[in-house]
Amino acid sequence: MSVLSALLARAFDDDPLSLYLFGGPRTRATGLARFFAIQLRHTYLRHGEVWTTPDCAGAALWAPPTMPRPGAMDLVRILPVVPYLSVWGRKTADVLHLLAAYERARPRQEHWYLGTLGTDPDRQGHGVGSSLLRIVLDRLDADGLPAYLESSKERNLAFYARHGFEVTGEITTPRGPTLWLMWREPRPPDRDAQR
Ligand SMILES: CC(C)(COP(=O)(O)OP(=O)(O)OC[C@H]1O[C@@H](n2cnc3c(N)ncnc32)[C@H](O)[C@@H]1OP(=O)(O)O)[C@@H](O)C(=O)NCCC(=O)NCCS
Repeated sequence: MSVLSALLARAFDDDPLSLYLFGGPRTRATGLARFFAIQLRHTYLRHGEVWTTPDCAGAALWAPPTMPRPGAMDLVRILPVVPYLSVWGRKTADVLHLLAAYERARPRQEHWYLGTLGTDPDRQGHGVGSSLLRIVLDRLDADGLPAYLESSKERNLAFYARHGFEVTGEITTPRGPTLWLMWREPRPPDRDAQR
């Protein structure tokens, strides 16, 4: 698990949301690794699905429709990450606004939620992310279930669009990053067969 949290910390090191929430490079690296370790242990390995490659080049963390929404215990579990955050002063209200908007935007319709997808930076661009995504997306297509994600990197929008996601909204913060909300309807099996 520490291998996966370390790889996700590297993948998200230059992410606009990471840069916004965490302090300098060292603080960010440790904070992100702790955050992903907590997410893996308490959320995705317990209630969801975690997919990786045999050499742990990337990871996809999925939440099924049945997974409980974050509650008070999740806030308590995240406390070890707090010392690494840089969200104090004027920024606190913006971050709270962002968190509330993020939760409000989550579709009520039943869906699988892609919480995190990351490929180790030196392995990016070689199909790892696509192959990890397809494992679950192919199954969702077969089961007729939609998927949802938020992306804080504009560069990823084309990547996700190629996998059938469409931008359905945006969350902006006054001095922070934009989050793009993306929804994917299941593709009928015959459409896949034509590709
Ligand atoms: C987005 C991400 C998971 C894609 O994984 P990947 O293993 O590079 O994906 P693939 O090799 O299957 O596909 C690469 C495609 O993603 C796009 N891409 C996005 N960010 C990229 C990056 N940093 N390096 C290479 N390609 C990137 C490229 O446009 C590329 O498209 P192409 O196939 O037309 O060249 C990966 O770039 C990553 O971990 N990024 C940082 C973390 C992140 O932003 N995760 C998504 C959170 S919503």
